[in-house]
Amino acid sequence: MHGGQYQVASPKLHHCHYSLTDSSFADSEDEEAEAPPPRTPLQKLTTDMCKDRKTIKELMIGRRVGFYKVRGEIGCGTFSRVKMAFHALAKDKVALKVLDKTRLDAQAQRLLSKEISSMELLQHPNVVRLYEVVETPSRLYLVLEYAGGGDLHNKICNEGKCIDNTSKIILAQILSAIKYMHDINIIHRDLKAENVLFTSSSCVKVADFGFSTRVSNRTDALDTFCGSPPYAAPELFRDESYLGPPVDVWAMGVLLFFMVTGTMPFRAETMGKLRRCIIDGAYTIPPWVAGPCQKLIRGILRPVPADRYAVDQMMGCDWLLPVEFPWSLVRQKPVSSLQSLLGSEYGELEEEEEEEIRSSLEELGFTSVHPRINRPTDSRSPVTGVYRILLHRAQKRRGCDCPPVVRGMVRDPKREGLGAYRGLRHTSKLCLLS
Ligand code: ADE
Repeated sequence: MHGGQYQVASPKLHHCHYSLTDSSFADSEDEEAEAPPPRTPLQKLTTDMCKDRKTIKELMIGRRVGFYKVRGEIGCGTFSRVKMAFHALAKDKVALKVLDKTRLDAQAQRLLSKEISSMELLQHPNVVRLYEVVETPSRLYLVLEYAGGGDLHNKICNEGKCIDNTSKIILAQILSAIKYMHDINIIHRDLKAENVLFTSSSCVKVADFGFSTRVSNRTDALDTFCGSPPYAAPELFRDESYLGPPVDVWAMGVLLFFMVTGTMPFRAETMGKLRRCIIDGAYTIPPWVAGPCQKLIRGILRPVPADRYAVDQMMGCDWLLPVEFPWSLVRQKPVSSLQSLLGSEYGELEEEEEEEIRSSLEELGFTSVHPRINRPTDSRSPVTGVYRILLHRAQKRRGCDCPPVVRGMVRDPKREGLGAYRGLRHTSKLCLLS
């Protein structure tokens, strides 16, 4: 693994002593006669991190973390703050989730390691990506995909309920993300409007995997109460154990109700009363909500988990019938014969993409990382960070993050990524990357 080529030379100045131990990264000190070749951006940055006073000071006061230049705060949670940052070489914006290690008790540490391991497995256009994990003696930084368009909670609080088509586009993306997670046995357990972020006006990303868990089987029983009470399924208040997928489904029902009405289905002044409302399934859908949407809400907000719609039933519902996804180039095992037939095109795209990343890495000075042979996978390596940022950039350029459209709506060509429909003109209902 090439992450090992960066070594932390001094435990004291952990985050500012990067030494270059590989010849492909090193300054050529032996060649006295000839002028040394121009330094690569990587060589310049790593030299600055060891020798430049300003850069070292920035590293010491937290204005720089690893290869990232840190900017202002954009959010905060119980154990963390979120800051905006830039990758000094790739120049992309990222979100830095900053955790103070001294404030993490054993439970918080367990949740954090689950958050990291869940996110390491996820690569989906509607899930916030984890690019890298940087650790200093006192802090841990999760380097995440930046979603600069705010969250769904603020959007609804500021602008009111969403129109029908917007709600469809948003729910379809959340559903796509949740189906993908459940298919690899990851349960989110904290779906709420605050954790649905926007990268553009219609492209959403599910964020915050701090309560997520991996089950060995979707029928595994869980027993920890997680998440936000207004989004919690009745079995979380009622039963000793619960199944993961129906809990995420219930939260999507609450989210859907919130989107289409601008209000929450279950509201009460006290936790006890809220619990009662949820257990009793006491909610009222305003009569002006479209019939097929009402049917979907009623299918989801059923108190008994076994009676509740499953993700596939949600996908097949009438209300989402007109939603079309542009073909996404997210790498997944082909699951249908049609997708198998597309395998060769996948291969070509993958090669093109890898060539693009290899050439960008080389320009920056990472001469010995070849994405095909040497795909960096260790999240705690700065090579992985730059590699994942470049990979995501290449995928976005190919239209991988394009939001779905509602059939009958006119597409705005300026907002379409290149090749949004390459690979498959999938015009049947809900092609949710499955
Ligand atoms: N707040 C929390 N996570 C974020 C992210 N990934 N991008 C932007 N703001 C955030």
